Amino acid sequence: MDKIVIEGGVALKGEVSVSGAKNAALPILAATLLAPGIHYLSNVPPLADIRTMKKVLELMGVKFQEGEPLVVDTSHLTGWMAPYEVVKTMRAAVLVLGPLVARVHQASVSLPGGCAIGARPIDLHLKGLEAMGVKITLNQGYVEAKVKELRGAEIILDFPTVTGTENLLMAATLAKGTTRIVNAAQEPEVADLARFLTVLGAKIQGIGTDVLTIEGVNALKPAPYQIMPDRIEAGTYLAAAAITRGEVRIVNAPVQHLTAVLEKFHEAGVQFTTKDNLIAVKPGGSLVGVDVKTLPYPGFPTDMQAQFMALMSVAKGASVITETIFEDRFIHVSELRRLGADISVSGNQAVVRGRRYLMGAPVMATDLRASASLVIAGLAARGVTEVHRVYHLDRGYANLTEKLEALGARIKRVPA
Ligand code: EPZ
Repeated sequence: MDKIVIEGGVALKGEVSVSGAKNAALPILAATLLAPGIHYLSNVPPLADIRTMKKVLELMGVKFQEGEPLVVDTSHLTGWMAPYEVVKTMRAAVLVLGPLVARVHQASVSLPGGCAIGARPIDLHLKGLEAMGVKITLNQGYVEAKVKELRGAEIILDFPTVTGTENLLMAATLAKGTTRIVNAAQEPEVADLARFLTVLGAKIQGIGTDVLTIEGVNALKPAPYQIMPDRIEAGTYLAAAAITRGEVRIVNAPVQHLTAVLEKFHEAGVQFTTKDNLIAVKPGGSLVGVDVKTLPYPGFPTDMQAQFMALMSVAKGASVITETIFEDRFIHVSELRRLGADISVSGNQAVVRGRRYLMGAPVMATDLRASASLVIAGLAARGVTEVHRVYHLDRGYANLTEKLEALGARIKRVPA
């Protein structure tokens, strides 16, 4: 197990390039199951979660050839199971459910347990698949799915679940007839998956909206595709530049998918300009506390909540942060407090009272975005911050330490 050691107080300077989006690459890798043959995927980010998804697919007979592009051969499937040992480490493995019932009419996928940020059931995934004719039984912690003929259905989602929308969208591409998914998630990564499916030959209307209409086709064919850039990684570097009063150019940033995030950073007094896929951050006046509420896209993303809280912990005044997506996504609060942050939590609201500065200390990462928030706070804290259990970071950030070191941060990764 490694730890990250940061000596805070350095204003970041230079240019950082955003990698491919984890939450687009994961469903797109699962979607290759729908189209037997050789796929060429470029800009796939080198992340632990991507390696985990490849492992799940290899268990089913999918073959990979590493490189740029990544070559994925889904010609012959030998299995249709996502075992507990894998799903427990990455909930997104449930994304094989929709493609498997569409391709081989069956699947055996471990129910994801809860995780650090909440219970995270998949009841909406299963209800939608049942509406399409899939027989679902729960057996020793596994979702056993079987279907004779997948048929189109009208599905109204109680909540715009991201992976739920993606599972149903993927299944619908090969169902008989038309499927309408109402109250669909509108996250850009869902649209990236939909565009990939269209390139494979799927017929999808309403991409990027909350109503997806899919006309099932008989078969899909492989085609090359480039994964979109990661808006959450871009937002994370924006927070790191802002908290250190740095001067950083964030390139390959999907600015058009960051409207709500950029709006909040602007309100908080962060100085930056944007042009095409560039965010240019400059040191500016003082940071001020602003309220934020996480919402489904296009609202402020829950995946930026912890990073923004780190920034607010050294802003002038108070900031009320409301988390509406996950019931338990404040685990980073106790770790930020160890750095001197003044944060009180009641229910799904955290009140952050900005301090003039934070003090370095050993802290522990608990989930992917919480660990990013601790690194951000450590970059600004006085003295040395050690972030333990950095494997959480590796799940979603490619070469984070190297990228921050290249921006001048005094940061290194050492065995714990
Ligand atoms: C996706 O998770 C992302 N993961 C998460 O990113 C992200 O935080 C989340 O969407 C919200 O934007 C991937 O895309 C791989 P949800 P997902 O289904 O699909 C409840 C990261 O840091 N719900 O939209 O699992 C659920 O409990 C990760 O990259 C049900 O009740 O999220 C949660 O409270 C973390 N029943 C809320 O909806 C269901 O059937 C949002 O869940 C499905 C979801």
